[in-house]
Amino acid sequence: MSQQKTVSHIDNLPSTPGKFKPDKSPPYIHRLRVHSAISRLTLWSSLFLIFIICFFFFSPPSSSASPRRALGGDSWGGHNWEKKVSRSAQTRSGLTVLVTGAAGFVGTHVSIALKRRGDGILGLDNFNDYYDPQLKRARRKLLDRAGVFVVEGDINDSELLRKLFDVVAFTHVMHLAAQAGVRYAMQNPGSYVHSNIAGFVSLLEACKSATPQPAIVWASSSSVYGLNSKIPFSEKDRTDQPASLYAATKKAGEEIAHTYNHIYGLSITGLRFFTVYGPWGRPDMAYFFFTKDILKRRAITIYEAPDHGTIARDFTYIDDIVKGCLGALDTAKKSTGSGGKKKRAAQLRIFNLGNTSPVPVSELVSILEKLLKVKAKKKVLPMPRNGDVKFTHANISLAHKEFGYRPTTNLDTGLKKFVSWYQDYYSGSKKRVARAFSNI
Ligand SMILES: NC(=O)c1ccc[n+]([C@@H]2O[C@H](COP(=O)([O-])OP(=O)(O)OC[C@H]3O[C@@H](n4cnc5c(N)ncnc54)[C@H](O)[C@@H]3O)[C@@H](O)[C@H]2O)c1
Repeated sequence: MSQQKTVSHIDNLPSTPGKFKPDKSPPYIHRLRVHSAISRLTLWSSLFLIFIICFFFFSPPSSSASPRRALGGDSWGGHNWEKKVSRSAQTRSGLTVLVTGAAGFVGTHVSIALKRRGDGILGLDNFNDYYDPQLKRARRKLLDRAGVFVVEGDINDSELLRKLFDVVAFTHVMHLAAQAGVRYAMQNPGSYVHSNIAGFVSLLEACKSATPQPAIVWASSSSVYGLNSKIPFSEKDRTDQPASLYAATKKAGEEIAHTYNHIYGLSITGLRFFTVYGPWGRPDMAYFFFTKDILKRRAITIYEAPDHGTIARDFTYIDDIVKGCLGALDTAKKSTGSGGKKKRAAQLRIFNLGNTSPVPVSELVSILEKLLKVKAKKKVLPMPRNGDVKFTHANISLAHKEFGYRPTTNLDTGLKKFVSWYQDYYSGSKKRVARAFSNI
């Protein structure tokens, strides 16, 4: 096909930018052009104005009937969605709890325990891929069966949070959503700021403005003790020497909690968990990936302290942590603010939830070897400076005094339950996978 030269207004433009061709037309033609340009401008402006007015008057209102796209998640909103939210939050006990991080390890166990005793529960999780999202989806299946609906969305999505508080009058928020893991902070520091700081503030903002204001129980971490060497770790000990960005964001969370309690009268309880483990656990934690590697006959790395000292952790079984979370929820007093204003002083607490008996990592490996009936190939290396601390050891007398917290599962018993779940869940046999789903 021959290319015909089309004549258009483009041809009237100066061929070289910057070069200007003077207009040689007579002055009356010039006036006429200006006049017609003004009337064209007036016509287009009027049309534009009419368009804007029509848009505002005739566009559908942002009603609950139209689903929205969530920040980092599914779409939300609409009649069916609201029905699911309300049904999940129906309570027999009087407690209605929003559980953030519900598809996470602790969130799943806590949500199911609360639902079983008759509380209304709604989950929220962004299903991020920090670790295998398939595992989070499988936990969601468990929650679904228990009658807990998990909204897929981010705690930074303030519009979504506002909507959730519009649909449900939550009495409590169990805030477990966070970017967990100590070492990953060196790869992706922004994710810690996003979830543990910005996300926490966004959630507290929603709680502060809600009517009624809910009481908040949230997960801090034993990592706030950082380089503290006074043992066992007590809530009164110093927490100003974090060894990782993760720890620093949890410590920041504790300070932010103080501010929202002080200004807005939010009742806030922080729980410092100590190395939680158990069925449906987290693949990024040592007990989990040691199990995987030992079974695959792959070498595992065990770190030792600079002076050939042992690294030890106060491993705490998930069922004990769940009891601690429920105890904290049940003893949380009401928030005292309304309309974003504090009426009087509100409760502000912080508790250690640990097991009170640190176990060297080498012993954890021995127990796993026994349970898996496989000898581990071990590589012992000096501990790199990547955020880990040498040991953790909880003093739990405060939680015991306040809500009778008393852990009852030792590491042998807890790991036995974990290994049995792990072998079922990853067995590839339908029957055994079904058993993994039923044992919770
Ligand atoms: N497991 C432990 O040993 C341990 C120890 C100390 C503290 N904690 C804290 O306990 C809480 C629960 O930990 P876990 O072990 O269940 O971790 P997890 O990673 O299994 O659960 C956290 C969940 O939060 C979700 N999430 C993360 N950022 C989010 C966001 N911005 N919006 C919505 N959802 C988001 C994740 O998808 C995940 O499902 C966390 O706050 C963690 O920091 C855990």
